[in-house]
Amino acid sequence: MQHCPSTVSQKPIVLTGDRPTGPLHLGHYVGSLRTRLRLQEDYRQFVLIADLQALTDNAENPSKVTGNVLAVAMDYLAVGIDPAKTTICIQSQIPELAELSMYLLNLVTVARLERNPTVKEEIHQRGFQRTIPAGFLTYPVSQAADITAFKARYVPVGEDQLPMIEQTNELVRSFNRICGDVLVEAEAILSRVGRLPGIDGKTKMSKSLGNTIPLSAEPDEIHRAVERMYTDPGHVRVSDPGKVEGNVVFTYLEAFEEDTLLVDDLKTHYRRGGLGDRALKQMLEARLQETLAPIRACRHQLAQDPGRIIDIVREGTEVARQIATSTLAEVRRALGLNYFCR
Ligand code: TRP
Repeated sequence: MQHCPSTVSQKPIVLTGDRPTGPLHLGHYVGSLRTRLRLQEDYRQFVLIADLQALTDNAENPSKVTGNVLAVAMDYLAVGIDPAKTTICIQSQIPELAELSMYLLNLVTVARLERNPTVKEEIHQRGFQRTIPAGFLTYPVSQAADITAFKARYVPVGEDQLPMIEQTNELVRSFNRICGDVLVEAEAILSRVGRLPGIDGKTKMSKSLGNTIPLSAEPDEIHRAVERMYTDPGHVRVSDPGKVEGNVVFTYLEAFEEDTLLVDDLKTHYRRGGLGDRALKQMLEARLQETLAPIRACRHQLAQDPGRIIDIVREGTEVARQIATSTLAEVRRALGLNYFCR
């Protein structure tokens, strides 16, 4: 397997990450994995398995995080993330990221951390209110360290991650103002398709809500999920006019049916009445089965040889660590912390 460190590659650097708290699902596929498949062709891409970040709200249950790291790596490979083009690495195994976080933490106030809208919402969701772990409040700084240690120019993310990029760039500007131009500002690349809702129509697909379709789903699991999918409760008889907005089957068809004219026709027909949920669901199920069959087959094959997955992630982490190490040498020098190597 041939990896080329960024020092020899002229391609701009792209970095994304996932918290490994469960196997990846269709929401990840639509929101970010498809983009990564495209980007790996033209960019120097890093994908970080963000286990440290996942620990910030799973401190009581570390095995929920550590036990999913390799499953996530397997999902990446199964969808076609190619280790010859994309460097897959594990956050915790690159201690330079934690070190850079420590330096950056001095450049942000607690009040600023508390204003981050994504963190605010997450604090609310988790019921942390007065019991926020300090690590959780500061995870955007750790994420800024992830982004800047690799000098990533682009970060393809969903809309919920925009505050993280904003905070990263504030930290970059502060650091550079004090220490000289060392770190690089990053730009978000927003995915065209928004976040995929759960099959129950709730805005978020989440394993804990039981409304996801994992990438590793078996055919009957996909079938059952589509059957349970939220449509329009007011659409009782086939002949009734139906609502397309908020109808999960249509949202998924938009994400998975490439023939957009067909989807438009279906919407018109559904709104007019005469198109039943069953027919619509059959169409969607066919698309999903088609999308997931090769991924599942590839995953089964990968599962035969877990040693290979470990090797790929170990090699990727080594390559990534070299880059982070070289950035940290610059950072230390800029801060004057290079006492023993003048
Ligand atoms: N916060 C991201 C998420 O919850 C995961 C992540 C960690 C990340 N480090 C990153 C994303 C660096 C982009 C860049 O999905």
